Amino acid sequence: MNQNSDFIPFAKPALGKEEEDAVLEVLRSGWLTTGKVARALEEEFAAFVGAKRALAVNSATSGLHLALEAVGVGPGSVVATSPYTFASTAAVARHLGAEVRFCDIGVADYNIDSDLLDRLLEREKDVRAILPIHVGGNPCDMGAIFAAAERHSHEGGQGVTGKRGIPVIEDAAHSFPSRTAAGLAGTLGDIGVYSFYATKTMTTGEGGMIVTDDPALGARMATMRMHGFDREAWDRYTSRKASWYYEIVEAGYKYNLPDLLAAIGRVQLAKAERLFSERVAIAGRYDEAFSGLDGLVLPPRKNDGSHAWHLYSLRVDGSGDAVEAARDSLIAALQEAGIGSSVHFIPLHLMPYWAKRYALSPSDFPRAWASYRASVSLPIWPGMGNDAVDRVIETIATWVRNRSFR
Ligand SMILES: Cc1ncc(COP(=O)(O)O)c(C=O)c1O
Repeated sequence: MNQNSDFIPFAKPALGKEEEDAVLEVLRSGWLTTGKVARALEEEFAAFVGAKRALAVNSATSGLHLALEAVGVGPGSVVATSPYTFASTAAVARHLGAEVRFCDIGVADYNIDSDLLDRLLEREKDVRAILPIHVGGNPCDMGAIFAAAERHSHEGGQGVTGKRGIPVIEDAAHSFPSRTAAGLAGTLGDIGVYSFYATKTMTTGEGGMIVTDDPALGARMATMRMHGFDREAWDRYTSRKASWYYEIVEAGYKYNLPDLLAAIGRVQLAKAERLFSERVAIAGRYDEAFSGLDGLVLPPRKNDGSHAWHLYSLRVDGSGDAVEAARDSLIAALQEAGIGSSVHFIPLHLMPYWAKRYALSPSDFPRAWASYRASVSLPIWPGMGNDAVDRVIETIATWVRNRSFR
């Protein structure tokens, strides 16, 4: 039944005529790459999240790379993160020649465990950056992470010192907009990085945004985003003060976001509150339905409305091979009913590259492994509609009923 007209995809961007018009305007303007539209998106995004500076990039992966580089991560340094994440969170550390040390997730959520992080920082004296992930849009306990960063700040060696000791870079790829009492997730650490990938809560197709309150880190990332030039192409070609002259002050990267994509981002940002409330409404309907069904565990959240609901990751109750088989059968039932789903995440320590590099086995991070085996992420996207939500709920309710009869 897959891919037919009533197939419910796992994710779908909420795009309309406004995005089409905005792209057309850029296409017709004569300036396609990074320019005034990307600048405007940066300013509007910084204002929205409450950050001093925002830097538009062509992906969150690029943003994480720039962030780690800016805080001095390089050969000989270590980055502490969780294995419960996407490929790039850890890969960017390796791009810079640094090593990664994984730290398991909490018992009750999918985010890095701050007590285990504290112990890791005790052992590892070369940690130059801590990289927590707000998995699914559920914010990490940043207070506890900062406390650990501060307690072990003398152990970071040379390099940039963060606001609270060892620099903390938030992987905020999922957490736009996760509102916490201290501010939006992504604006709390030294640097935060959001993703505008096609499935994210706000999209430009591919893209991302870095935010920071630190002028020196902002300046470094701006330079490294654009070939290590001392000024940007926009200034060189279009400003009234334009000059052909520039200097290369570093061996930089090419990570800028073009205006063509930034135009989509500006429209998406303008409707961010509506997109967010639609996600909240779908999560609410799922919660209500699934809390009444046996054998399911609702996605973790803090009950303070801070979840961005990028993902609705349901868990099947149980453990070991049995729960993995049950989860797989739930995915198959969804597929059979023409409903897309996904799994977040296959932990990195199960991946051949990381397992081999650090001689890791699945049980080294038992919570990440167990969560992975039990989880399935359900469709949640603005414009999904009540009928589609009902179909997901009915399919899962039928699966639960059939399971209990076995
Ligand atoms: C947790 C996390 N971090 C980083 C990224 C990378 O984002 P991008 O695709 O914008 O590079 C993703 C992408 O899905 C992600 O899920």
